[in-house]
Amino acid sequence: MRLEWRQVSKRYAEKTAVDDLSLDVAEGELLVLIGPSGCGKTTSLKMINRLVEPSEGTVMVGDKDVSLVPVTELRRHIGYVIQQVGLFPHMSVADNIAAVPRLLKWDKARIEARIEELLDLVGLPPGEYADAWPARLSGGEAQRVGVARALAADPPVLLMDEPFGAVDPLTREVLQREFLRIQSTLGKTVVFVTHDLDEAIRLGDRIAVMNEGRLVAAAPPGELLMDADPFIRNFTGEDRALRRLARLSVGDALGQAVPITAVGGDGDSAPVGSIRTDSTLKEALSLMLEAGESSINAVNPAGRPIGKLTLADLLESAAGTEAS
Ligand SMILES: Nc1ncnc2c1ncn2[C@@H]1O[C@H](COP(=O)(O)OP(=O)(O)OP(=O)(O)O)[C@@H](O)[C@H]1O
Ligand SMILES: [Mg+2]
Repeated sequence: MRLEWRQVSKRYAEKTAVDDLSLDVAEGELLVLIGPSGCGKTTSLKMINRLVEPSEGTVMVGDKDVSLVPVTELRRHIGYVIQQVGLFPHMSVADNIAAVPRLLKWDKARIEARIEELLDLVGLPPGEYADAWPARLSGGEAQRVGVARALAADPPVLLMDEPFGAVDPLTREVLQREFLRIQSTLGKTVVFVTHDLDEAIRLGDRIAVMNEGRLVAAAPPGELLMDADPFIRNFTGEDRALRRLARLSVGDALGQAVPITAVGGDGDSAPVGSIRTDSTLKEALSLMLEAGESSINAVNPAGRPIGKLTLADLLESAAGTEAS
């Protein structure tokens, strides 16, 4: 289901929170909204599910103007995940996930099955977690439950407002990887708000940069990191070339399109002195620098050697403007 902001503004007495935003999100696309604090990201997001009503302009969900769709009907199609998770503290994990299906009057067996399916999907064994209370969950586990709850009624649209902002960097990487895996099978239309440029680059099909209520740029990560606009260059920082490497996989550099799924330091890495094809070129460069070598053996995710990645391969891929 596609989304669109058409010349949307939100004015408060003292402040224009969003100023003439025009932007669309294609069906199945993951659009990241990023920008300095107070630039209007959350406000833009909330105008989609009508937690905030625009002062001007139109927001479209699918082929409908959201102002004409009853709020409850609208929100049925939109999952919403926020940083503070907002799990109901007096309900078990299972009951939290079941909240929307119960509103929709699903029968009991269907709800039970859905809870199990979703807990499996987000990597929490149902036997251990279904009856747990939110208070005992770690931050990362609570975020997983938040994602499961948002997905409960299988909405075509997901709105995520800094969903992984409150967890430590390692947990965040794991959650990002898991979310990419989930997204690759579910293909939701996602608007994902973050402060974290690395997160944006990792997750986004496209990144929209906002500043002071206005849209400054919207482009695939690779293009954004090449953008000559001074605000964007300042925003992407001096290490934008390294960030570009973080978007390319070892497999890409070796001429095999391999999506990035490996995360350094999580236990399923390659044998010493080699790197997996689903790791990033940034990790490959780091390993080469550490070893003082100008090449490294590449293995596929099953651990089978598939060739050598050289510094020359790496430079060539980094220099060639990638499509995404
Ligand atoms: N209800 C409101 N009344 C008045 N001003 C508001 C209201 N909601 C938001 N604002 C202002 O609008 C601007 C944009 O707010 P918004 O929450 O969209 O920013 P943000 O980009 O999500 O920031 P952050 O990264 O800190 O979450 C801010 O200056 C904020 O103070
Ligand atoms: Mg915000």
